[in-house]
Amino acid sequence: MSLNTQWRLIARPEGEVGREHFEVTHLALPEPGPGEVRVRNLYLLIPPSMRLWMNAKETYFPPQPLGEVMTGITLGVVESSRDPSLVPGDYVNGLGGCQEWSIAPAGHLQKLAPRPGVPLAAYRSVLDVQGLTAYCGLTEIGKPKAGETLVVTAAAGSVGSLACQIGKKLGLKVVGIAGGPEKCAWLRDECGIEHVIDYKHDDVAARLDVLCPDGIDIAYENVGGPVMDMLIERLRFKGRVVLCGLVSSYNGGVTQNTASLMTLVNKAARMEGFLVSEYLHRYEDVVGILQDWAAEGSLKYQIEVLDGLDSIVEAIGRVFHGKNRGVQLVKICDERSV
Ligand SMILES: NC(=O)c1ccc[n+]([C@@H]2O[C@H](COP(=O)([O-])OP(=O)(O)OC[C@H]3O[C@@H](n4cnc5c(N)ncnc54)[C@H](OP(=O)(O)O)[C@@H]3O)[C@@H](O)[C@H]2O)c1
Repeated sequence: MSLNTQWRLIARPEGEVGREHFEVTHLALPEPGPGEVRVRNLYLLIPPSMRLWMNAKETYFPPQPLGEVMTGITLGVVESSRDPSLVPGDYVNGLGGCQEWSIAPAGHLQKLAPRPGVPLAAYRSVLDVQGLTAYCGLTEIGKPKAGETLVVTAAAGSVGSLACQIGKKLGLKVVGIAGGPEKCAWLRDECGIEHVIDYKHDDVAARLDVLCPDGIDIAYENVGGPVMDMLIERLRFKGRVVLCGLVSSYNGGVTQNTASLMTLVNKAARMEGFLVSEYLHRYEDVVGILQDWAAEGSLKYQIEVLDGLDSIVEAIGRVFHGKNRGVQLVKICDERSV
């Protein structure tokens, strides 16, 4: 077996992530012990929150220890197994880290049953964390009722674009806010979201006033910063804010204004943090629904794949510069070669 290429975090970034924050090592991999399996990692998901894991402050994960293999959300294929629940060739999701191979207890891995015709990479993205996040965030925290107005930020992103389309399927009036004409055109023309705002070029406040003349019932918030204040200020009575993420602050530098929060009081509105790990019990039914919609072509998504572990830093940068078109993945190994 080849040596295992591993990306280790050796310094905590202050702002953007750079190559200097990592060391790449090549070490022999131990054999799996009883109850363990060896997994060839195929895809690494690059979620914006990966940047937060690198900080000294705890998130929903403990802080990434310096010198250790960087935490990574992966999809892989079992190569050898010492547990009867998994056999070589099984596809699994896990926290395989930023490395070519990983050893894990079988019980820590989720066996996948990919449908023919669905790209394998979708099972580590839209038919996984992002899909669950969009669906459960909107339905369980947003509590939508047909005819209500939903506004989604980072609307052309992986979570955002799904939230927009699920909102439309539920009979909501959907307004998507995204960066740039190309993303807005994709949302409008491919995803069928008629009302879009390009926050990089439009007067967002003015457009919100035109598109949401009676206010906003549900704000699905992925970004934070000034646009989030504009949404909160326009909430209707008993409005809801699904606080899914604050990507504009992850590299530091953006602090959230609290002046708009008085609107939550004045409108008896509710803002609730969403954490996908609280909704894993919904995984089977939600992924089933999304899979059916994707198969019939009524749920659109984009998956962008960069090649090789050497593209990790570029992939993270793309997410924070809005260059990703939908889900950002790194391909660690070609699925056809294993
Ligand atoms: N709470 C949970 O359990 C959970 C789970 C998954 C994801 N999330 C959150 O969901 C949000 C979206 O995640 P995702 O994986 O779907 O990523 P994504 O939306 O596919 O990619 C991030 C997008 O955010 C926008 N963005 C990045 N930096 C920005 C900035 N400084 N100002 C404004 N917009 C910026 C960019 O879109 P534009 O080009 O349109 O600006 C970029 O394409 C994130 O906040 C993430 O942390 C939360």
